[in-house]
Amino acid sequence: MPRLWPPAPCDSPDPALIQTGSLALEVLPDPAAVAERVAGLLLAALERGQTLGLATGRTMEPVYAALRNQLLHQPAAQRQRLLAGWRSFNLDEYVGLAAGDAGAFATEMAVALERPLGLPAGSLQLPNGRAPDPQQEARRYGGAVTAAGGIGLQLLGLGANGHVGFNEPPCPSDARCRCLQLSAATRRQNAAAFGGDPAAVPERAITLGTAEILAAKQVLLVVTGEAKAEILRRSLQEPPGPLVPASWLQRHPQLRVVADAAAAHRLS
Ligand code: GLP
Repeated sequence: MPRLWPPAPCDSPDPALIQTGSLALEVLPDPAAVAERVAGLLLAALERGQTLGLATGRTMEPVYAALRNQLLHQPAAQRQRLLAGWRSFNLDEYVGLAAGDAGAFATEMAVALERPLGLPAGSLQLPNGRAPDPQQEARRYGGAVTAAGGIGLQLLGLGANGHVGFNEPPCPSDARCRCLQLSAATRRQNAAAFGGDPAAVPERAITLGTAEILAAKQVLLVVTGEAKAEILRRSLQEPPGPLVPASWLQRHPQLRVVADAAAAHRLS
């Protein structure tokens, strides 16, 4: 495994960016710098007309704030053009919840992007957590992603147990969009959005699979904070395997990781 971080002085003209095979790793000082950078990459993808794969969670809150801000600083005509062409699919949704429900990812997206940007209805899609048959809804949603030509740029956060989307370990590299049971660890991790009570976090979710994620043209993994340092190291520097679903990303031909120094400090 080639050394990733810190870079040798002449590894790259941009000391924050290291290219190793198909992996580009960018380490920035703090979450604010990460958010600005990732927002810039999302804006560039919108300018290219790419379909976005979007994620939720605390890591993405400053990213979406920075994206709103960068969009609002575009000339009005350019902003209107980008918003009119916006097409995105979120990774996942809790079973039983939909837009308007506290804790629903659809609500999070409405608050973070849809309402403040005035996105046209239907531009931002998520699985319907209230569909009567969640497995059928997962098939429909996976089919909608394929029918749209797949994801151009897939934005990902990293779960503390190595999940991406809600692909809980163990997870093969070819899992498709499906409804699954959330682990106790994930329900604890996400309890803050449910009044701090892990038992209030829904037991199941619909998620795009590793298959759809790996089929995206580009993957952008965003990781901040010391608490994610060890799982980021395992994701990037241990052989890919089902126990750390994010480790399958090593097989993606265009993986970019943007991390803050705290999250990157265990990389070697
Ligand atoms: C959640 C979501 C993921 C998210 C990850 C990290 O459970 N399903 O899409 O990226 O876990 O969340 P956070 O950014 O809050 O640490």
